[in-house]
Amino acid sequence: MSEVKRDDLTGESTTGHEWNGLTELDTPVPRGILLFVIVTHAFALIWWILMPAFPLGTTYTPGILGVSQFTSADEAVAENRLARASWSDALLEKSDAEILADRALMVRVTEAGHQLFGDNCAACHGRDARGGIGYPNLTDHDWIWGDGSVADIMDTMRIGINAQHAETRFAQMPAFGREQMLTTAEVRNVAHYVYSLSNPDYSTVDNFERLEAGSQTFATNCAGCHGQDATGIPGSGAPNLTDDAWVYGGEIEQIIASVHGGRVGHMPYWEDRLTPTEIQVLALYVHSLSSGRP
Ligand code: HEC
Ligand code: HEC
Repeated sequence: MSEVKRDDLTGESTTGHEWNGLTELDTPVPRGILLFVIVTHAFALIWWILMPAFPLGTTYTPGILGVSQFTSADEAVAENRLARASWSDALLEKSDAEILADRALMVRVTEAGHQLFGDNCAACHGRDARGGIGYPNLTDHDWIWGDGSVADIMDTMRIGINAQHAETRFAQMPAFGREQMLTTAEVRNVAHYVYSLSNPDYSTVDNFERLEAGSQTFATNCAGCHGQDATGIPGSGAPNLTDDAWVYGGEIEQIIASVHGGRVGHMPYWEDRLTPTEIQVLALYVHSLSSGRP
C-alpha cells in the first residue's frame, strides 16, 4: 500500500510506504553531500580518461596522457646514469693522483663508495671499515698486501685473497703447533718473543731466556715469511708483527693461537660481481679512509 502524504510535524512528504502504521519521510539528500558525490564522480570520470585505469584482460585502458610507472622508472634510471656518467667518465680520464686531488670529484666518489662499501664489504670489514677479529682494519696505514695505493687495493678486490679466482692472492700461516713443526714450548716462546716486539716493556731480565729462545725459533721458522725484523714482506701476505695492527689479536694467547693453529683469511674476489668502475670507486674510497682525504 503506497500513498504519498505530507507529514504534519515536519511539513516533508513521506515515501508513501507504510509498515504497521509507520511511514518514512522522503527527506532530500543534503546539498553538501550531493555536491560531494557529483564532484568525486566527475573527478573519477576525468581520471579514467586521462590515466591508465580499467583492466582489460591482459592489458588496460592506457589513458590519453600516456603516463606509466614503467616510463617514469626508466626515466629516473636514465637520469641517474647520466648524472653518474658525467663524473665516472672523469675517473677514466684522470690518474689516481689527479682524482684524489679533485675535491669535487672525491665528494661524488666518497658518496658512491660509502654506499657500495655498505652493500658489499661492511658485513666483514664493518660499516666503519675498522674490521674485527679475522678481518683487517682498512682505515689504518697498515697494509698486508701492497702499500695501500689505489692500484694495490683494486688488485686485492679484483682477485681476492685465498679466493676462487685463478690469479688470487694466496697466503697461509702454517699451523706450527697442530702440525707438530714446533713443540708446545717453542710455540709459547716464539709467541712471547713476537708479543715483546710490539710491547718493548715486556723484555725484562726475568724473561730474557724465554725471549732469546723465541728469537732463535723466529729466525729459523718465521723470518722467511715475516722478514728478519718481523716487519712483514709486502706482497707476500705475511703481516708486520711489530706494530699494533693485528688481524687475529695481539694478546699472548691470541698469538699462541695463530702460531699453533695457523691462519687462512678468505677475502672474496669481486671481478665478476662489481663493474670495473665500481671497483675503482671502492678502491679510491678505501684509500681515502686511511689517507685522511675527504
Ligand atoms: C709460509 C709463510 C709463513 C711462515 C713461515 C710464518 N707465517 Fe705467520 N703468517 C703468514 C701469513 C700469510 C699470515 C696472515 C694470515 C692471514 O691473514 O690469513 C700470518 C699471520 C701470522 C700472525 C697473525 C698476525 C695478526 O695480525 O693477527 C702471527 C702472530 C704470525 N703469523 C706469527 C708467525 C710466527 C711466530 C711464525 C714462525 C713460527 C710464523 N708466523 C711463520 C705466513 C707465515
Ligand atoms: C667474506 C668477508 C669479506 C668481505 C665481504 C670483504 N672482505 Fe676484504 N678481506 C677479508 C679478509 C678475511 C681479508 C684478509 C685476508 C688475509 O690477508 O688473510 C680481507 C682483506 C682485504 C684487503 C687487504 C687489506 C690489506 O691489509 O692489505 C682489502 C683492501 C679489502 N679486504 C677490501 C675489501 C673491500 C673493498 C670489500 C668489498 C667490496 C671487501 N674487502 C669485502 C674479508 C672480506
